[in-house]
Amino acid sequence: MVSQIHESAPAYAPPVAAITAHDVHKAYTVDNRQVEILHGVSLAVGVGEIVAVMGPSGSGKSTLMYCLAGLEAPSSGQVTLAGQPLEQLSRADLARMRRSQVGFVFQSYNLIPTLTAAENVALPYLLGKRKPPADLIAGTLATVGLSERADARPPSMSGGEQQRVALARVLAQQPEVIFADEPTGALDTRTGELVLAELVRIAHTPGRCVLVVTHDPKVAAACDRILFLRDGLLVQELRQAPVEVVASTLAGLGRNGA
Ligand SMILES: Nc1ncnc2c1ncn2[C@@H]1O[C@H](COP(=O)(O)OP(=O)(O)OP(=O)(O)O)[C@@H](O)[C@H]1O
Ligand SMILES: [Mg+2]
Repeated sequence: MVSQIHESAPAYAPPVAAITAHDVHKAYTVDNRQVEILHGVSLAVGVGEIVAVMGPSGSGKSTLMYCLAGLEAPSSGQVTLAGQPLEQLSRADLARMRRSQVGFVFQSYNLIPTLTAAENVALPYLLGKRKPPADLIAGTLATVGLSERADARPPSMSGGEQQRVALARVLAQQPEVIFADEPTGALDTRTGELVLAELVRIAHTPGRCVLVVTHDPKVAAACDRILFLRDGLLVQELRQAPVEVVASTLAGLGRNGA
């Protein structure tokens, strides 16, 4: 059941891939020094899949998400998203693609504090000069359990409520590919289950897929596959694994850099 991923071998390739990475390296410049965070990551996420990325804090999960979503350019290697090689897209094409086909739930929520929850959810429509569909906005807020907070502004909302507004904003766009970085991190168990069920439902809708970073073995166990990142390398993969197996695999990775 547990399959080891070798550094040079591409991970399991689903029949139709919505996201692919080939030998992705990412370095940042810190104090005039290049520090490499990702050391050659290859993966494929298929249409119709929800895939979890797990790993110790600092192992590069968010960095990997940024590279896959076209928010950061890899130092080397190739990424394709919704069938498009990202390095061949102009900035304008990339921005257009991110607006129309890709949704990203950030670890920090990036809400506009002066707008209400409903206005934050409608914002991408307004930025794209499209009329926000009122029913869809209201329906999405209901899906994440926030109907009664539609008129609240982020500073008056709890962390979990803000996280759900950020998620609703992505869901209301109905993108083909959703990247979610710790989408249940600030939520209580019941709300977390609600959000997770919605992400699984969306991933299994024709033409969609979801990539989710999580520290929670329960979230990962609900996904079709789990990729384990350690020190900037994918080191293991599980497929439809029970919670206990996920938890022990994660524990087996140890602390990052350990
Ligand atoms: N812009 C940046 N400049 C320099 N170093 C960075 C930058 N972004 C991330 N790093 C470093 O890269 C490493 C991986 O960070 P990343 O945010 O990808 O980790 P993570 O696995 O998402 O961790 P967590 O579980 O805590 O969110 C960390 O050591 C971090 O300090
Ligand atoms: Mg992170």
